[in-house]
Amino acid sequence: MGKITDALKKAAQERIARLEKLDQKAEVKYEFIAKKKVESKIDPRIVAFHDPKSSVSEQYRILRTNFQGISSPKHPIKAITITSSVHSEGKTITAINLAVSMAHDLNKKSILLVDADLRRAKISKYLGVNAEVGLADLIANGTNIDDTLLNIGIDNLTVMPAGKIPHNPAELLGSAKLKNIITALKSKYDYIIIDTPPIIHVTDAGLVGAQTDGTIMVIQANRTQKGVVEHAEMLLKQAQAKVLGYILTNIQYHIPAYLYRYL
Ligand SMILES: Nc1ncnc2c1ncn2[C@@H]1O[C@H](COP(=O)(O)OP(=O)(O)O)[C@@H](O)[C@H]1O
Ligand SMILES: [Mg+2]
Repeated sequence: MGKITDALKKAAQERIARLEKLDQKAEVKYEFIAKKKVESKIDPRIVAFHDPKSSVSEQYRILRTNFQGISSPKHPIKAITITSSVHSEGKTITAINLAVSMAHDLNKKSILLVDADLRRAKISKYLGVNAEVGLADLIANGTNIDDTLLNIGIDNLTVMPAGKIPHNPAELLGSAKLKNIITALKSKYDYIIIDTPPIIHVTDAGLVGAQTDGTIMVIQANRTQKGVVEHAEMLLKQAQAKVLGYILTNIQYHIPAYLYRYL
């Protein structure tokens, strides 16, 4: 009897040691991804960070689950573009909350949040980080990619800020270089979330959307008219950006952000 108990104990200890080894291996991966460490002062509107147990954060978790659910081995969705019809519909706040929520996922996926709004770049502002170089510099002058990848102190999350605002955003985002960068990043990260400008007045979101696996449109409830959303969707389709779904923001009293339909 004693021998059997000892054998079981030994087997359990060996199993724990094996699991610890695997964990260490996983750690190496994340250390590799976490590049420049920077100080951050995250905006209170990033509720997924400040108040992960709140009902608002729960909505971002639902969004995370919906997003992960549409990915399949045959049609993997690794990189998504977040856009909207017009400005200030909540794209950037949604993109950051979704990225933080995904980084908090127990499955320890590596998440990259990219600011491709090279006109009104806000991600560094909402995260309270001082970002000198980013995507624009990477495309325009071949800045070292490691200098653009920031570790803001949230496990599993890496942030690529927009960098120096260029005079020719659409030209940069339409270049073959962006395509190569996204392909390279997709091999390093499990999921990439890319924030872009609104689609109605500039083509940027269409250009980025065409290089990613899908686009999600943020719609501010009680503001953006149906016809405007339909026009925005047509522009995305024309640009070969596949619209995966919609997120409603500014919903009063119940759901502040909810991905309610997939095509
Ligand atoms: N889910 C939401 N519900 C209500 N207001 C929101 C929501 N998300 C963002 N906002 C507000 O909308 C404004 C614009 O947000 P932002 O993310 O910067 O918009 P965009 O990136 O589309 O220009 C901000 O004041 C923000 O607080
Ligand atoms: Mg924005």
